Amino acid sequence: MPQAVVVIGVQWGDEGKGKIVDQYSEWADVVGRFQGGNNAGHTLVVNGKQTILHLIPSGVLHPHTKCFIGSGVVVDPVVFLHEIETLKAAGHKDLESRIYLSDRCHVILDYHKALDAAREGAKGGTTIGTTKRGIGPAYEDRAARRGIRVTDLLRDGFVEKFRSNLAEKNVLLEKLYGAPVISEKEQLDKYREVGIRLAPYVRDVSNLLYEEIQAGKKILYEGAQGVLLDIDYGTYPFVTSSHTLPSQCALGLGARKPKETVFVGVMKAYTTRVGSGPFPTELRDAMGEQLRESGAEFGATTGRPRRCGWLDLVAVRYALRVSGIQHLTMTKADVLSGLKELKVCTAYKLDGRILDTFPNDAGDLERVEPVYETLEGWATDLKEIKKAADIPTPLKKYIAFIQNFTGAEVGSVSTGPGRENVIEISRPF
Ligand code: GDP
Ligand code: IMO
Ligand code: MG
Repeated sequence: MPQAVVVIGVQWGDEGKGKIVDQYSEWADVVGRFQGGNNAGHTLVVNGKQTILHLIPSGVLHPHTKCFIGSGVVVDPVVFLHEIETLKAAGHKDLESRIYLSDRCHVILDYHKALDAAREGAKGGTTIGTTKRGIGPAYEDRAARRGIRVTDLLRDGFVEKFRSNLAEKNVLLEKLYGAPVISEKEQLDKYREVGIRLAPYVRDVSNLLYEEIQAGKKILYEGAQGVLLDIDYGTYPFVTSSHTLPSQCALGLGARKPKETVFVGVMKAYTTRVGSGPFPTELRDAMGEQLRESGAEFGATTGRPRRCGWLDLVAVRYALRVSGIQHLTMTKADVLSGLKELKVCTAYKLDGRILDTFPNDAGDLERVEPVYETLEGWATDLKEIKKAADIPTPLKKYIAFIQNFTGAEVGSVSTGPGRENVIEISRPF
């Protein structure tokens, strides 16, 4: 029986991690975020009511859980406080005593968002299609050792650090990007108040998690984004600015991972991507449009339409290899219901040669042509199905094909956005 489970997206994000983390949270004592920030949008649907979380761990709807935000997360404190207010307004109680924010988290300030937007809008540069939430600029400052941390927001030293950072950012904004400068006085007033409101949630999360692990408590690690957006192992430079792999979970929360830890990869039954970057199986035709419509594929953070395409098993197999994930849960199988035939990509063609591995160079990946196998579709409404034995045969074959190709076990199939829409096959914990 494992003590910990890590949930990671194995594509380009939005695989349905929030829903799976909410489901697994019934089992967990602690749910923690360890990387990313409010570029994430995790959607939970409970009793027909939708909740979208960007920063607070997706275990929060279960009152018994403690929710930790570790040092690896970059935190926009205004978004954090707004999310708390929204949860309180929806009737969730005692949040101060179960949501803990690490004092080591780096803070996303308005100048990070302004820089993110200015860089994305600049002519001649690479447009990543970021969420413009200031994620990249905040991680840059962390690496450059001029970042401002949550602990600074609560201390007098904040003013001096902020002033020197703002002076530099204003030069960049004004001189390099022709963007409006940011007023120091307004910002100091704003963040002084934010610091006061944040204080009740701030803790030494590293130490708290250590104690929970020592006490044998069950830990659920919630990944954001997906393996293919990892800063090193994703489709660089069309990636996010953090490590999204399971190996980040111990670092990003500041406590060793329990020995018995299971990694679960969340895989959408087809593929989506938001923003720029290579996407071999993208469908720019009516089929792609149909997937977007039936899958409601619009970003939970920015509302942007998601690019849609067939399941790319070469990409998934690569994601499993670099992350060490051996268990999968497949989401949005219901979206494929009614299609006569389904295609899955099992190799790429590059310069006339067949490749069965995922190229490391984004330019090569941009040029590959997918090689497909065609599988039979299913017409059944999957929401009615609760038992593995009742899974329609073509879906069973689709699952068997994925298992054979990737070597990973598909433990469950998600059949709708609701917490109850799931068919368990073999739970790995
Ligand atoms: P995350 O970022 O990985 O948590 O995923 P998002 O919440 O951004 O996007 C997943 C979307 O699909 C959300 O709107 C979910 O409510 C929805 N969803 C999750 N699982 C399923 C499923 O099995 N079927 C359908 N139809 N929708 C799902
Ligand atoms: P969840 O956790 C999908 C994408 C952006 C952009 C790139 C860099 O909901 O799965 P950033 O703002 O991080 O600098 O943007 O990464 N991206 C996501 N795409 N789901 C996400 O999170 C994402 N977070 C970032 O669209 O292409
Ligand atoms: Mg999302």
